[in-house]
Amino acid sequence: MNIMAQEVHSARMTGPRILLVVGGGIAAYKSCELVRLIRKGGGDVTCVLTEGGSQFVTPMALAALSENKVYTSLFDLKDEVEMGHIQLSREADLVVVCPATADLLAKMAAGIADDLATTAILATDKPVMAVPAMNVRMWEHEATQRNVEWLRQAGVHVMQPEDGAMACGEFGPGRLPEPETVWLEIAEALGVDPGDVGASEIADYLEALEPEDEPEADWSPDDEGEAVPDEESHGGGYRAGGLSALLASIIPRSTSHRVNDDAVAYGDDSFPQDDTGLPPLPQEGWGEAAPDGEEEPLPEPDMNSPLLARKGSASGAPSMDPGALINKDLEAMPMAAPGDPDAVVVADVVADPLDGQPAFELDPEYRPLFGKHVLITAGPTHEPIDPVRYIANRSSGKQGFAIAAAAAALGARVTLIAGPVHLQTPPGVDRVDVESAQEMALAVKKALPADVCIMVAAVADWRSRDVAMAKIKKRSSAPPALLLTENPDILATTAGSSNRPRLLVGFAAETDDLLENAKKKRKNKGADWIVANDVSDDVMGGDENAVHIVSAEEIDSWEPMPKRDVALKLMERIADALKD
Ligand code: C5P
Repeated sequence: MNIMAQEVHSARMTGPRILLVVGGGIAAYKSCELVRLIRKGGGDVTCVLTEGGSQFVTPMALAALSENKVYTSLFDLKDEVEMGHIQLSREADLVVVCPATADLLAKMAAGIADDLATTAILATDKPVMAVPAMNVRMWEHEATQRNVEWLRQAGVHVMQPEDGAMACGEFGPGRLPEPETVWLEIAEALGVDPGDVGASEIADYLEALEPEDEPEADWSPDDEGEAVPDEESHGGGYRAGGLSALLASIIPRSTSHRVNDDAVAYGDDSFPQDDTGLPPLPQEGWGEAAPDGEEEPLPEPDMNSPLLARKGSASGAPSMDPGALINKDLEAMPMAAPGDPDAVVVADVVADPLDGQPAFELDPEYRPLFGKHVLITAGPTHEPIDPVRYIANRSSGKQGFAIAAAAAALGARVTLIAGPVHLQTPPGVDRVDVESAQEMALAVKKALPADVCIMVAAVADWRSRDVAMAKIKKRSSAPPALLLTENPDILATTAGSSNRPRLLVGFAAETDDLLENAKKKRKNKGADWIVANDVSDDVMGGDENAVHIVSAEEIDSWEPMPKRDVALKLMERIADALKD
């Protein structure tokens, strides 16, 4: 049980009581969905809306969803008589600040109490969780990072914002995690069962928005005669307009709806999931990371965008072929479906476990990692398009496997989450084979806690948003365009999770501006170290590697050396760091 869970043990008896502070920013709309999920999970929510927050959601919406009074001003004397801010903040089992703007985080760190929200946060004797959302530059600003670090040291659980595209064209961390992810984090902190959330919830609530008799995928010609997805129809991009339409849509209808059981199978995870085959929740490029007060325009599909967009800049080209990629029945697909827990299998022990593995001639008494659990991801991921095609990269998995072998040789208990590679399992290593990024994310979550996590895998940045059940046929008309969607960032999600390992190490494979990019990556992803390697030559698949260890304090550059030597040197450095 974690510290928070101990403190709020009593919450299990009655269902958790949450004081939700809703800050200003376009991401505030997600707090409505969060309220709904907390209620659905058996919790009770009381909302405090900041002045900024009330520019984006109304007290009435939050009151309707929470079925509790919503508090908005410190100077409401009537409320002071009925319920003072001290009482308000202490009646809760957990205070959740969501979205936590840069301003709110700064006030929290400085102990400023100039409105009801900040006063309640300052006055509480309960655990506090903050879910940041802001522009990437605001998030990366030294002042914000200093505040976050200070708050974390003070015991506030500050979640890591997600990476994503901003409507302003910027990309990076700053987006509010999806409400399902926040609710799972809350449930974990409180030690309560989150119930059924995730893909099925999304499916259920999106279905509630559909007119009962609307066909599944409805395509119609636009003014230029090209096929475009109809508003809110399955298989199409989300084009319904306006924040108010979105807010209205967040309040579910009371009719009961079919639960998508297929989707439930993939929903047991705090990582973002959207393989329900339904249209995505309005999220990408919605600018929840926009500077406070600015509403971002809805993204329109760019019919001329290239097949593979710059990372994070778009979710890809809309499909021009209504028939090609719309089969969403993953269960019936004759291959491992993304996120299918059954697809995560422990690999067989090989006949000769030493075959093809780096041999470390070490003194058997030398076991500096004895008693430590080391979690490693390695290899590429394969993102299915249809039963025979997938998106992949050239990662061989050799470096990650060598690190796993070295960790085991130094006495650690090692879990190796491996993408599809043709490598033998190193001796003494527990291996879990996965195909896709979503499976890898799920396997990592299941394997935690760990003392150290080293993420060497070259996780695909994007996956095909729709996976065809049958092989997509070649046809004489234009080839089908791939509609891509962002994969979960496993490293960043682990950094923000309550199970964060003591030492979190990421890899950065770059072809240019190696060190600058690695430094940024370390900060953006919340890792302790980044191992930067230049992949402009033949590092991927080769046996040699030249790396630089980028930490908060220094950059340690190593001579080119065989991958097995990099592995041993890295694990010895890690063993040293864990001594402190
Ligand atoms: O963003 P980029 O792929 O360059 O980041 C590299 C680091 O992040 C590696 O440690 C990789 O394992 C990790 N990563 C991840 N999940 C992703 C993408 C990268 O864990 N979706």
